[in-house]
Amino acid sequence: MADSFHVRGGTALSGSIKIGGAKNAALKLMVASLLAPGKHHIGNVPNIVDVDTMARVLEHVGATCDRDGSMLTIDVPDDPLPEAPLDLVRQMRASILVLGALLARAGEARVALPGGDDFGSRPIDFHIKGLESMGATFELHHGVLHGSAPDGLTGTDVFLEFPSVGATENLLLAAVLADGVTTIGNAAREPELVDLAQYLTTMGAKIDGAGTSTIEIHGVGALEPASHSTVPDRLEAGTYLAAGAMTRGHVTVTDCKPEHLRMELRKLASIGCEVETTESTITLVGPDRPAAVDVATLPYPGFHTDMHPQMVTMLSVADGTSILTENIYAGRFRYLGELNRMGADVHADGQHVVIRGVDRLSGCEVDACDIRAGAALVIAAMRADGDTLIRDAQHIDRGYDRWVENLQSLGADIERV
Ligand code: EPU
Repeated sequence: MADSFHVRGGTALSGSIKIGGAKNAALKLMVASLLAPGKHHIGNVPNIVDVDTMARVLEHVGATCDRDGSMLTIDVPDDPLPEAPLDLVRQMRASILVLGALLARAGEARVALPGGDDFGSRPIDFHIKGLESMGATFELHHGVLHGSAPDGLTGTDVFLEFPSVGATENLLLAAVLADGVTTIGNAAREPELVDLAQYLTTMGAKIDGAGTSTIEIHGVGALEPASHSTVPDRLEAGTYLAAGAMTRGHVTVTDCKPEHLRMELRKLASIGCEVETTESTITLVGPDRPAAVDVATLPYPGFHTDMHPQMVTMLSVADGTSILTENIYAGRFRYLGELNRMGADVHADGQHVVIRGVDRLSGCEVDACDIRAGAALVIAAMRADGDTLIRDAQHIDRGYDRWVENLQSLGADIERV
């Protein structure tokens, strides 16, 4: 039987949490290591299920992965098997990034079409179109995408329809070993992508403009193994701050980068949180009752879609009505029904969530639908009257290292059952 989290609400969280490395950076750094044979050392890697899944993808390809605390050593073979199997890709959409890396490294790649969180349809057409314009060809056989570039990839100008994080990363991974210059226009600007570009640069890649909308990559003949420390997880930091805000708590997150959460911190301040930052810490004091605000999710540096469920949860007990507009995913609303079961009054109307603040939430049994929605339901439970059982803990385990231990250390009444 899958694990659940049992939470008894009513405690104001208080204390300090050390933030680990970002899931959405570490997974990409692991894939990037495939671009050079030899031993790579990636530090500050969170101990979460998605990292284990990616390690299994790399092991299938022929690499070995050894973890010592938060340090991951990856030994990459000379001739990687250019294949990512369905059982792993289905568990984690980020596996699709091996497409660019394996095409660059081996001239071919066989990758099952991805699964991942249920946010409605999540196509990979931008990845494919971009790689095709670099000379790759693709065929789909029985759910497995066969990519081929026997003569190598060639640099070109790619202009993305939307600043997709994954498509930008896949093209970056493909371009560093391509022949000539690749320009990615309308590129994603996420800090995790900048971290990937920094790692690739340490490996010997020539990349300009990572973190801006135009990235220029000069292909090189070969890359070397390297060492790198993963950028802090802004979503882990944001989630603990949301927990502090929701419980009228006083929470500090350390070892993080406040500048990566500018819009989220602004919104926390506008619902009435007191927020103070230093270079690497954020301290928050939650309001007695949040104020209502409107929020729109947008690509970085806009408000992160992966903070959407936590924000709606905080606003569910606000004094007034708020509207959150989801601009990244067509369907990220399945958790709303779970929140309503706890007494919230939230509903989706097209891409908008209308949130009518209620006085109180009450505990019951709910299902974690995905990583962030699951975390948001735990946060709701910590303010709710009575007991809440959040089922399907495995979703939360995909993204949060030491989740129960950290919340317990802040005083939360939570246990895994
Ligand atoms: N899209 C397309 N075609 C494509 C690629 C994307 O239509 O070829 C659409 C998607 O369907 C979506 C939007 O573009 O509507 C944005 O998708 P994007 O490619 O930017 O997202 P991703 O790379 O698949 C990463 C994170 C997600 C995070 C998004 C947005 C990883 C492993 N995942 O996904 O993180 O929500 O960027 O910032 O980096 C999470 O950590 O909980 C999570 C879901």
